[in-house]
Amino acid sequence: MQAPRFPNDGHRVLLCVCGGIAAYKSAELVRRLRDVGADVQVVMTEAAQRFVGAQTFQALSHRPVRTSLWDAQAEAAMGHLELAAWAQYVVIAPATANMLAKLAHGLADDLVSTLCLATQAPLLVAPAMNHRMWLHPATQANVATLSARGVRMIGPNDGPLAEGESGPGRMAEPVQILAALEAWA
Ligand SMILES: Cc1cc2nc3c(=O)[nH]c(=O)nc-3n(C[C@H](O)[C@H](O)[C@H](O)COP(=O)(O)O)c2cc1C
Repeated sequence: MQAPRFPNDGHRVLLCVCGGIAAYKSAELVRRLRDVGADVQVVMTEAAQRFVGAQTFQALSHRPVRTSLWDAQAEAAMGHLELAAWAQYVVIAPATANMLAKLAHGLADDLVSTLCLATQAPLLVAPAMNHRMWLHPATQANVATLSARGVRMIGPNDGPLAEGESGPGRMAEPVQILAALEAWA
């Protein structure tokens, strides 16, 4: 068995999954992160749960998935501020146009956006969306705001999109996201 190599002095990764078709790829990302020794806590938006079941992420991460700010039992175990402090790295994959807008403007109206505002951990963001949504000036302005603030972006890749069109909008592959995180850590 390969020895864990990720990273030497920090391995607690908060993986935020948003509501896009690429959410299914994040299941593989969890597996790859675990394979290299990371401790992964998955948080899903409400929309993300329409694409992939929380059980899938729970089984792969070996941790209960967090889905709501208003889960009294989960908050009692580890409150959202504790969770924000627990994270050594935050990865948002896939990041929707909606979440990019929320993060750029400092909104905190769900668990993912609240955690991102509350954490001091570095943020790696893997956007995925239709190419017109990606190229829209509003999205590009939000990405520029986040990048200027030190948020790292990976992708999106150019190529065939789920709706049958082609262009920039494909989420970076899990191996690319892992490599970006490892290079950074
Ligand atoms: C079938 C379907 C696919 C979608 N795919 C994407 C996507 O890939 N990227 C994106 O930004 N939004 C996508 N959306 C829209 C988001 O799900 C929607 O903006 C949602 O409010 C995002 O919520 P969240 O950011 O809290 O996860 C899709 C919607 C539907 C119905």
